[in-house]
Amino acid sequence: MWSLIPIAALVLMFALSAAAQPAGKIDPATVESYVKSAFGKAKDGWENRVQQDETQRVCTQYRNEPPAPEADKIVAREKTTVIFPADGKLIGDWKAGQRIAQSGRGGQFSDPPGTASGGNCYACHQMSPAELSFGTLGPPLVHYGRARKFDPDEAKAAYTRVFNSNAVLACSNMPRFGYHNVLTEQQIKDVVAYLFDPASPVNQ
Ligand code: HEC
Repeated sequence: MWSLIPIAALVLMFALSAAAQPAGKIDPATVESYVKSAFGKAKDGWENRVQQDETQRVCTQYRNEPPAPEADKIVAREKTTVIFPADGKLIGDWKAGQRIAQSGRGGQFSDPPGTASGGNCYACHQMSPAELSFGTLGPPLVHYGRARKFDPDEAKAAYTRVFNSNAVLACSNMPRFGYHNVLTEQQIKDVVAYLFDPASPVNQ
């Protein structure tokens, strides 16, 4: 119990010093060091996860609203990272895609090594009208393929979006699933099928 007191004192000190600063003037180095300390118990190799890359750095600098030339630079750079399937097929198996969309496992501290990653799409999007539980950070994707007349160019745009969302919207809030190797090429094809296969529950 006694050990809690210094932490409470530290939190109070931080709150006071933050309150003393004008809004928007908090020293980024202070924030960085707190974020890093929050990952203190992370396994080896996880430190990189809290290093911002150039895109994240610029988005943070402009609080996700960079001026147009900066945004264009980000989109152009991120676009070069997108790798399309060599076989030219973007639509996989919607049933596998549904499981990926519903799973938030993989890449967590508590996951056994080798756990297949999910896309956790439902954490942010409504997709199938039949699904009961979903988040609303992202727009609803109900009837996504049907509303786009199952257009192959739209499917390609969705593949790009899932591979690297910042290639579409400079400071996107959606994870870069292909770029960070969270999802494999086949898994991205499968979630694209979940959105674009006429038989998928998303389009019923
Ligand atoms: C952490 C939240 C989050 C997760 C997880 C997430 N997305 Fe998104 N997604 C967003 C947000 C937010 C947007 C729109 C604005 C943006 O990019 O910031 C978006 C946009 C999209 C769009 C474009 C929608 C349009 O208006 O045309 C598609 C398609 C999409 N997401 C598919 C997926 C799929 C498939 C998955 C799972 C593999 C997924 N998203 C996971 C947050 C998320």
